[in-house]
Amino acid sequence: MHLTEFLFALPKRVFNPILFSLLPIALFGQSEIEFSIDTKVDALLSKMTLEEKIGQMNQYNGFWNVTGPSPQEGYQKEKYDHLAKGLVGSMLNVRGAKEVRAVQEVAVNQSRLGIPLIIGFDLIHGYKTISPIPLAESASWDLEAIKTSAELGAKEATAAGINWTFAPMVDITRDARWGRVMEGAGEDPYLGSLIAAARVHGFQGSDLTAPNTLAACAKHFAAYGFAESGRDYNTVDIGENTLHNIVLPPFKAAADAGVKTFMNSFNDLNGIPATADKHLQRNILKGDWGFEGFIVSDWGSLKEMVDHGYARDKNHAGELALNAGSDMDMESYIYLREIKSLLKEGKVSIEQIDDAVSRILKVKFELGLFTDPYKYCDEEREKRVTGSKEIQDAALDMAKKSIVLLKNKENLLPLKKEGQRIALIGPLANDKNSPLGNWRIAAENNSAVSVLEGLASYTGNTICHAQGVRLVDTIPAFHQEVKINTTDKSGFKAALKVAKKADVVIMVLGEYGFQSGEGRSRTKLDLPGFQQELLEEVYKVNKNIVLVLMNGRPLVLNWADAHIPVIVESWHLGTQSGNAIAQVLYGDYNPSGKLPMSFPRSVGQMPLYYNHKSTGRPGADGGDTGSVFWSHYGDEKNTSLYPFGYGLSYTNFEYSEIKLSSDVFNSNGQIEASVILKNSGKVKGKEVVQLYVHDQFASVTRPVRELKGFELVELAAGESKKISFTIGPEMLEFYSANRKWEAEPGTFTIYIGTNSATKRKANFHFN
Ligand code: BGC
Repeated sequence: MHLTEFLFALPKRVFNPILFSLLPIALFGQSEIEFSIDTKVDALLSKMTLEEKIGQMNQYNGFWNVTGPSPQEGYQKEKYDHLAKGLVGSMLNVRGAKEVRAVQEVAVNQSRLGIPLIIGFDLIHGYKTISPIPLAESASWDLEAIKTSAELGAKEATAAGINWTFAPMVDITRDARWGRVMEGAGEDPYLGSLIAAARVHGFQGSDLTAPNTLAACAKHFAAYGFAESGRDYNTVDIGENTLHNIVLPPFKAAADAGVKTFMNSFNDLNGIPATADKHLQRNILKGDWGFEGFIVSDWGSLKEMVDHGYARDKNHAGELALNAGSDMDMESYIYLREIKSLLKEGKVSIEQIDDAVSRILKVKFELGLFTDPYKYCDEEREKRVTGSKEIQDAALDMAKKSIVLLKNKENLLPLKKEGQRIALIGPLANDKNSPLGNWRIAAENNSAVSVLEGLASYTGNTICHAQGVRLVDTIPAFHQEVKINTTDKSGFKAALKVAKKADVVIMVLGEYGFQSGEGRSRTKLDLPGFQQELLEEVYKVNKNIVLVLMNGRPLVLNWADAHIPVIVESWHLGTQSGNAIAQVLYGDYNPSGKLPMSFPRSVGQMPLYYNHKSTGRPGADGGDTGSVFWSHYGDEKNTSLYPFGYGLSYTNFEYSEIKLSSDVFNSNGQIEASVILKNSGKVKGKEVVQLYVHDQFASVTRPVRELKGFELVELAAGESKKISFTIGPEMLEFYSANRKWEAEPGTFTIYIGTNSATKRKANFHFN
């Protein structure tokens, strides 16, 4: 774009000041210059007062949908005034084309420079049309589908005025007690990294200026997923080894994928609240990784540093956060109120302020907000796009791909399509709200297709529905504790009656939609309320049970695994939930999901993850040694009930032994590892072939195995295919004792198979 075009394209308030400073250059012979975004940012910055700069670093919540505690002080009026004075850089939770236009108009038309707002929102798994919770999507291991899901979420949200999402959450999570496991990609840094990149690409697309793409945000930087005891917001204490090898890779992958923003986190990490962590933000992210976007704080995380006992007061919190590299303050009101005096006292520098503001303005320019601040505010488009067939179809596709078949004894599934009497039982069987899961702020309550509704489109069988028991007494709001029914079992009788007469019983049990998510930690991982009792009572009268689970985290399912013939993990699948489940139960979709988190045998195993270290006393092949002096529990196995990467299909897959092209290579070389995969069953199906690597000896202890490759393969019945993985030095790299990523020479074991517990292995040497 030529300078003159750029100047004239600016909104009117920006147009004047910049026009006067830059027009001469354009007029005197330099009209061919292409102005980079950096130049435009500098030009604008040079026109800003200190107050206006600080304003850009200030983010306010909208006038509804508070997602955290809010300052009270008559804040609506104050916020409005601040908008008009150019003292707000961003708002979150303002949504709808009309509403966003209204606040944008105040910023653009009333403030002196007319700098447009960037409008943030937690687009976590869909806007109005809800796709499966991120943990469920991750179970698909289908990167294309995950990317499409983010892309269509962006399409629907941008039509409602949103241009920045606080997603993807890329926190690695090993503790199912933590409610926010539903929001991420699970326990593995390799899978998590690929999914992080897929989501960033989906949200941001190939053209960030397009009206249907938005800026993404990798959060929560960093280590929020390692909250002690799985209790949300709790302290995190992990060493360098875990930080670099496990926690940081998905953040790095998001940065490499071009994510425009990062969010820091509530937790303190090794004694320093992440918001004030200079090493993380300035050294690693903005330094080593060369991140050029901006960092937003988490909700009120600046002022929470006072509660952490790290900042003396709010003023001190502002100083710490800005020095550490936090660029935007979400809802603490601290930057706005404190930076000026901090600057005067020399506690922060103008360079730091300019850097933060430049980063924020840069993203606004990259979004094209200066060219058209209202491009996301077309009410006509909003009507057309919201809930469109394209978006619904993609949500259904993603939901089917997210389902994991945990058990299918004697192939009870798929169900026969005719002549069956089916009892449909359970508090979630006709629930239209829970399947939406948590983080579905813009969705209508009760807008999901229930299992009862989904099954109704198959008309050949008779369905008898009985709720059996209520899970909650009232639908809780986003911020309220879920109150589980622990008093009323009066529905048991009716449920047992329909179960007795049925050929097959489908029981839909699990967690209420708001039982996972932020602030939703649990000490128990069982089926809440009377559900376990209901399951056992129904089992007494009819053993042909298909257990459909709806939950936002791994659960302890020992009893069900030992007794119930069929278990289907359907998570919280979103708007199209019931349709997806019905298609899977009837075999019109062959499930192919694989667990992105280990399912424990006991809550006492937490944190539980497949890529653990060996310890000095691993037991004989990880098992009993005949004495107590090895790393184990006296009352439970060490292993998970269902391991990471586990999931069944309606067909069977057979693996050949592993073939290596050579069993030795060096830093200039690579080898190929392959297996022949055969679909030996009767129907077409998909398998995720997984490759794990174990470094037998290294400068720091290495996990017993780590996922390093996978391929999602579809095979017709009877079909075989060679699946190959290239193993090069980069696959063997880790953060070593030298404090850098490198591959060390030695002997490695690889495993290729159907889940993380596979025993099929081969060894090679890396010189
Ligand atoms: C959460 C963030 C979220 C923010 C804004 C916070 O409570 O931790 O993940 O993006 O609220 O809603």
